[in-house]
Amino acid sequence: MKETSLHFLLSVLSVLSCTTDQARLTLSPSSSQFFEGDSLSLSCEEDDSSAGWTLRRNTTRETRTQCDDWGTSAGSSCNISLSFPSDSGVYWCESREGATSQSINITVSGGAVILQSPVLPVMEGENITLICRTQTSSDLPADFYKHGSLIIDRPTGHVTILHVSKADEGVYRCNIRGHGESPPGWISVTGTPTTTAPPTIAVPPPEPTTASSAVPPSDSAPLQQVFTVVRYLVVFCPYVISTVLLVSLYRHRPTGIGG
Ligand SMILES: *[C@@H]1O[C@H](CO)[C@@H](O)[C@H](O)[C@H]1NC(C)=O
Ligand SMILES: *[C@@H]1O[C@H](CO)[C@@H](O)[C@H](O)[C@H]1NC(C)=O
Ligand SMILES: *[C@@H]1O[C@H](CO)[C@@H](O)[C@H](O)[C@H]1NC(C)=O
Repeated sequence: MKETSLHFLLSVLSVLSCTTDQARLTLSPSSSQFFEGDSLSLSCEEDDSSAGWTLRRNTTRETRTQCDDWGTSAGSSCNISLSFPSDSGVYWCESREGATSQSINITVSGGAVILQSPVLPVMEGENITLICRTQTSSDLPADFYKHGSLIIDRPTGHVTILHVSKADEGVYRCNIRGHGESPPGWISVTGTPTTTAPPTIAVPPPEPTTASSAVPPSDSAPLQQVFTVVRYLVVFCPYVISTVLLVSLYRHRPTGIGG
C-alpha cells in the first residue's frame, strides 16, 4: 500500500512538472486582424527558458516555419515590421519536447476594413468589444455579422457583447458602407480560466503565501529556478496531498454491502 502511494505520488509529480512547463503566446498590438503594412510583435512568455520554446507558424504557403524565416528575432520576441496578407495564419509556441502553447489566428488584410476582436479565447462571463475600422477611422457606422447574418448595426463602429457565453462563439465579420467588408474573424469562448495551471486541478490554488514574497528579487537564473520550483510546490502540494488522501480513502473503503 505504502509503495503504491509513493509510486502514485511520483507519477503525479512527474505529470505535474510536465504540464506546468508551459509558454504563453502574446501578440502586440492585441488584435486578430491587421492591415497590410502594420507591424506586430509576438513573443513566447515562458516559465522555464531551458525548455527551448520557439515561435512557429502555419500559413497557406508554409508549415511550422520559425521566426527567422519571416520576422526579426529580438530576444524572446519576434517582430514583423511590415506585414503582408501572406503572414496570415496560425501562430504558436513549441518546446523542444513538442509541447505547444495556445495557438492564435492572425489575419493580415489587403482590404479596406478589419474587425478587431480578442485574439485569445475569451472566458464565459467576460465582456468583449468588437471594433470595425478602416485604416484611418474606428468610428464609422458599421454592420456586424455572425455566421453571415446581420446581428447589429452601430453608428460608431463598436459593439460590446456583455457576459459572453458559449453561444456567442463563432465567425464574425463587419461591413462599413462605402468602404468594404472585413475578413472573417473567429471568436472562441472557453468555460475554464486560461491560465498555465493544469486544467484538471482538483482544488483551488492557495492564496499567495509570504513564502513567495520573501524570495528576494534577483536576476540570477539559478535563484529564479529555485523560485519557480518553490512556487510549483506551494501551488501543487495541496493538490497532491488531497489526491493521495482521496486515493487512500478510496482504497480503505469497505467493500461489500454492509461491511
Ligand atoms: C501546422 O501544420 C501542420 C502540418 O500540416 C499540422 O500538423 C499542424 O497541426 C498545424 N498546426 C496548427 C497549430 O494548426
Ligand atoms: C520589436 O517590437 C517591439 C514592440 O513593438 C519593439 O519595442 C522592439 O524595439 C522591436 N524590436 C526590433 C528588433 O525591431
Ligand atoms: C483559427 O481559425 C479556424 C478557422 O479558420 C478555427 O477553426 C480555429 O478554431 C481558430 N483557432 C483559434 C485559436 O482561434
